[in-house]
Amino acid sequence: MSTPSTSSHASAAELRRSAQDHLWLHFTQMGDFRERPLPVIVGGDGCHLTDVDGKRYLDGLAGLFAVQIGYSHGEEIGEAAAAQMRELPFYTNWNYAHPRAIELAEEVASLAPDGFERVFFTSGGAESVESAWKIARQYHALNGERRWKAIGRDVAYHGTTMGALSITGVESIRNPFEPLVPQVSHVRNTDRFHRPEGETEEQFTAMLLDDMEHRILSEGPDTIAMIILEPVQNSGGAFTPPTGYFQGVRALCDEYGILFCADEVITGFGRLGDWFGSLKYDIRPDLITSAKGLSSAYASIGALLVSDRVAEPFYGAEQMFKHGITFGGHPVQAAIALKNIEIMKRLDVVGHVNREQDAFRKTLEPLLDLPIVGDLRGTGFFYALELVKDKDSKQGFSAAEGKDLLQHFLSDRLFDAGLICRADDRGEPVIQVSPPLVADQAIFDEMTGILGEVLTEATARVKGMPASGGDDLRAGNQSAQG
Ligand SMILES: Cc1ncc(COP(=O)(O)O)c(C=O)c1O
Repeated sequence: MSTPSTSSHASAAELRRSAQDHLWLHFTQMGDFRERPLPVIVGGDGCHLTDVDGKRYLDGLAGLFAVQIGYSHGEEIGEAAAAQMRELPFYTNWNYAHPRAIELAEEVASLAPDGFERVFFTSGGAESVESAWKIARQYHALNGERRWKAIGRDVAYHGTTMGALSITGVESIRNPFEPLVPQVSHVRNTDRFHRPEGETEEQFTAMLLDDMEHRILSEGPDTIAMIILEPVQNSGGAFTPPTGYFQGVRALCDEYGILFCADEVITGFGRLGDWFGSLKYDIRPDLITSAKGLSSAYASIGALLVSDRVAEPFYGAEQMFKHGITFGGHPVQAAIALKNIEIMKRLDVVGHVNREQDAFRKTLEPLLDLPIVGDLRGTGFFYALELVKDKDSKQGFSAAEGKDLLQHFLSDRLFDAGLICRADDRGEPVIQVSPPLVADQAIFDEMTGILGEVLTEATARVKGMPASGGDDLRAGNQSAQG
């Protein structure tokens, strides 16, 4: 276990005071920490984290769906970073290449679906999404068409920069910043739980594709640059695709000349038990966005993977993608990502997820016996539990109830009980569980034990609520994004 460090600060109290005075946390109600202590994480090992008071937590969220190899590889990755620092601490990918970016691009291309040979590096997920939309627009321009619009899905999260936020389908985080980049529309996501009883998988797929085609036609097919979808949508709670869905989207994109981008910022690099969700579901996109797991979040590096078809016009005489980021392909970050992939291969992390995913699901399944747990969905090491007020009617919670349950009760109680996971109310209320990809049965058991205990308490709390509810939950506040 690594030794927790409090750097130059003498005490937990001083660290917390300094954080309160100077460090602005992301998507965080900072005022809350006047009343309760701000969590300060100082160490990590395996799937666990340690806070400044010495308390241990199971990280059931892999540091925002990112730390594939867990927290024990700092030494080895640090050596790779230090070696790169000695060799070449920085150079840019604007006009110049350097060995680590070249090697990483080749490595990523070798793991990607066939026909993806080109990799454009970014500093994170939102930049990958921005880069995808921009390359889609310019690709069409190079082919003599003016297409600019994007289509995303309801409640999907794609990042917070203005372009990525415009594509994001979560109203409450869009509203404060409007007007956004215009002319993005959102279509139905693959939430199956709230569909009518008796609807078949085929009918569900047909309904979704019908909705998408209507949107394409109403927007004007020749104005749409890109459709962007996650293989499994995180926000709203691990919405998996019904059979035939992605093949249908591919067919619509082909019919109307639209580029198809798979946002694999979460699903890329093993989370679903394949290197990419596009491989698992045979999605055949034109673009793939990635970040988090590329380096197991040991570095802030992302990548846009570009299919040969899309890359082709940019490699013509006197052409360039008119887009760049100073830190894109940073040599130290590339060295870290390369070492991460080496470790993932050595430990056969992706094979491990593939082999253990059924055991993970089976361990979580008994939670469905709790009256408050309406649905368990997901795949790989990527699951969500949807919480309901009444299981038979699938009745949800009002905004006030959802806020009380998720923000005031569950988030705090889970954390107190030693489990970091996400109580999320961007759609219906869900608990998201997404551990490091090295998690084993002992970790599944620990996680499920804590969830069971806390959700049993939550059930008792819900019993005290009035029978009505579920009216305006979507307007509720957000907990952390990602
Ligand atoms: C699907 C998806 N796309 C994009 C992003 C944005 O990534 P980042 O926070 O690295 O900008 C996220 C973040 O969680 C995401 O889940």
